[in-house]
Amino acid sequence: MFSLQGRIALVSGAGQSVGAGIATVLARQGAAVIVNDLHADRAEKVAAGIVAEGNRAAPAVFDVTDLDATISAVRSAETELGGPVDILVNNAGIADSRVNKRFLELTPDQWRGPIDLNIYGAMNCVYAVIFGMRDRGWGRIVQISSGSARTGQNIGVSMYATGKSGIEGFIRHLAAETGQFGITANVVALGQQKNLEHIYSAEMLEKALASIPIGRLGDPIEAGAFCAYLASDEAGGMTGQTIDFNGGSQTR
Ligand SMILES: NC(=O)c1ccc[n+]([C@@H]2O[C@H](COP(=O)([O-])OP(=O)(O)OC[C@H]3O[C@@H](n4cnc5c(N)ncnc54)[C@H](O)[C@@H]3O)[C@@H](O)[C@H]2O)c1
Repeated sequence: MFSLQGRIALVSGAGQSVGAGIATVLARQGAAVIVNDLHADRAEKVAAGIVAEGNRAAPAVFDVTDLDATISAVRSAETELGGPVDILVNNAGIADSRVNKRFLELTPDQWRGPIDLNIYGAMNCVYAVIFGMRDRGWGRIVQISSGSARTGQNIGVSMYATGKSGIEGFIRHLAAETGQFGITANVVALGQQKNLEHIYSAEMLEKALASIPIGRLGDPIEAGAFCAYLASDEAGGMTGQTIDFNGGSQTR
């Protein structure tokens, strides 16, 4: 079950952390994976790791917020891997330049970045692959989001959460518009992931762990396994959903 053999997948922002885990698992399930990142060294390293496991991958270096660059790089990677994208995982959502500031501390020129990345970045990737999915009568879109989209937090993530809320709405409507073409579109709203261990202070980590019933941070390989399910034939009946994948946290 959940084989992705013969499928081609595009994972955005897959050069490290969550996206790298998702790309690795999709490839283990049989998909040939286009490993996108802004940074060539990251994309190449993850793609090489997948190939070293005996699976198929190609790095694709582009900025998802640039529509023309996205379309052109996706077409080149499809040629390299020998077919069109069947599975899209929109994972890119955290910019290198991300700053955690509350709305009252931001200047207007700082509003747009996280919104562009999380909304336009995701829509650009959808636009690059959705017409082919429609014409072939099969497609899978998985959007990575965050619990912050559906809560309110005083931790300086309002613009990021605005982007996540917006793209969650888009995905629900996309699912409604494209279900008739054999395309599913779902959102995976992640909780706090392992890579935060390197960012949080000891006190923040302790507080985070106390809020998560399973008592640990999320693992990219587990996120990847869930994406593999959503990308499979067997998940054809599931669309338009936002699923919290957060160790049971009620605070999101
Ligand atoms: N880490 C967490 O705790 C957490 C929690 C909830 C949701 N998420 C979501 O998971 C996803 C991945 O997060 P992460 O923690 O792995 O991020 P990360 O910062 O570790 O990695 C993101 C990757 O995306 C790439 N990237 C950034 N902007 C890009 C662009 N414009 N075009 C192409 N690539 C770009 C970066 O170069 C980087 O390699 C994001 O959508 C994030 O919102 C993460």
